[in-house]
Amino acid sequence: MSILITNIKKLVQAEKEPAVKKAGKEMANLPTIENAYLYMSDGLIKEFGLMSELTTSNEAKPARLRLSGGQARICIKHHPEASGSAIEQIDASGKMVFPAFCDSHTHLVYPASREIEYVDKIKGLSYEEIAKRGGGILNSAKKMAETSAEELYESAMKRLKEIICYGTGAVEIKSGYGLNTESELKMLRVIKRLKENSPLTIKSTFLGAHSIPTEYRRNQSEYVDIVINKMIPLVAEEELADYIDVFCDRGFFTVEDTERILSAGMKYGLKPKIHANELDYSGGIQAGVKYNALSVDHLEYTGDEEIETLLNSETMPTILPGAAFFLGMVYAPARKMIDAGLPLALASDFNPGSSPSGNMQLILSMGSILYRLTPEEAINAVTINGAYAMGVSDELGSIAVGKKANIFITKEIPTIEFMPYYYGSNKVETVILKGEVQ
Ligand code: NIG
Ligand code: FE
Repeated sequence: MSILITNIKKLVQAEKEPAVKKAGKEMANLPTIENAYLYMSDGLIKEFGLMSELTTSNEAKPARLRLSGGQARICIKHHPEASGSAIEQIDASGKMVFPAFCDSHTHLVYPASREIEYVDKIKGLSYEEIAKRGGGILNSAKKMAETSAEELYESAMKRLKEIICYGTGAVEIKSGYGLNTESELKMLRVIKRLKENSPLTIKSTFLGAHSIPTEYRRNQSEYVDIVINKMIPLVAEEELADYIDVFCDRGFFTVEDTERILSAGMKYGLKPKIHANELDYSGGIQAGVKYNALSVDHLEYTGDEEIETLLNSETMPTILPGAAFFLGMVYAPARKMIDAGLPLALASDFNPGSSPSGNMQLILSMGSILYRLTPEEAINAVTINGAYAMGVSDELGSIAVGKKANIFITKEIPTIEFMPYYYGSNKVETVILKGEVQ
């Protein structure tokens, strides 16, 4: 299957030499080709360039194109295998092409929505107060035990279809609403099935240490022991997770708990990606960096010391604007972090409690509106840096030859800046994942 997109108003983030991530001033760099074509075949990006180069080439024999009005002749340089084979052509006049979003932090496998808690929150209860009353994550864990794997799979698949429509091409999904061995494994097996059956690229994270179950409140380390000695070995045995996560924050898991869990997971090859510094200067950022985490996420409480620690690391700082917005929290100092030279990823945190939306276009807008990222910086944060934060930046996150053909075509839009500016509506018209129109 081959697709040729022609007359692209702007081909965004098209890189001849792909970067694995962008940091500091580099985040403002968004390579773009005007009036471009993009050729994809066998699920991969094969070629792109100026339209003028496409139509004047005569190095290869003309390939047949399927056009509504019959057949046209066109040359794909360097790809003689295209000769004679059918190529679907899409005319993108007035429209732009972007790499699909990489959403590096979600909890989108969950049993039920939690809008009643949200009403409590409007009436004045804090996230921590709701959690202390057995609401929040514990509420989801209770429902998780009563929900079948089939129901979880069906509802999560609907959410995946929804996020594809908004332009997401890769997503990380965490467990963490099980909080006992059986339910954690159930969640992870559902994620594995989603991986096998969805066109999205999916990475799976084991988050047994998401909250302390009520029965272990007085003996937290006993629960940590279960995570380490029982859950992690079983998760590894069935190869159910790519990464390991801990909610390292005030009222949840301590730095000591976190370090014990991360080192246990790493023995089984699970790289850390952790929740840190959402509720306080918890030491979570330092713990993540110490264990060479792929990313540390949330980061509302990030000061000079944390910035310094991150500057000396390979860890991707990841901000979750949806959660800070929805919970009315302080915003992470994104501008200061980029100005200090750090890279930054933005992710949705799609979950039923703190961020019930997986719409990455909204996250892009929030990145600009609430965190003062320029449109270019925000686009890099939801594409290449998101890809890095989920360990896939060598195959996703930008338009580069050899990367997966995961892209979206916009509706007719005037400028790149229009993407974050025109917030709240869907600017994506067509999504192509692994070279297939969705
Ligand atoms: O990333 N902060 C911890 N965990 C989730 C919230 C999950 C929930 O409330 O259900 C988060 O925001
Ligand atoms: Fe989260």
